[in-house]
Amino acid sequence: MDKISVKVCLGTTCFVKNSAYLPKLKEIVAKEFGDKVEVASSLCLGVCSTNWEISKAPYIKVNNVLIQEATIEKVLAEIEAQIKKGE
Ligand code: FES
Repeated sequence: MDKISVKVCLGTTCFVKNSAYLPKLKEIVAKEFGDKVEVASSLCLGVCSTNWEISKAPYIKVNNVLIQEATIEKVLAEIEAQIKKGE
C-alpha cells in the first residue's frame, strides 16, 4: 500500500478558520500510524475560492478525499478508513 498523503491547508481562509492548530497532526499521526502516513502543510488548496460565501474551511486532503471543517478527529477517521480499504 502506498503512503497516505495528508495535506493541511494553511492558506489565509483556512488559517483564519483555525487550521493553525492542525500541524500538530504530524505528531499525532506519526505516533499512531508511523511511516504509513505523511503529513504536510499546503498553500491554498483552491477550494475556498469556489464557495467563499459558504466556506467550510479549514480544508484538509487525505489522498484525494477533501475534508471540510476539518478537525483532528475527522482526519484520523479518514486515515483509518483508507488504511482499512487498502488492507
Ligand atoms: S485557503 Fe484553504 S482552500 Fe483556500
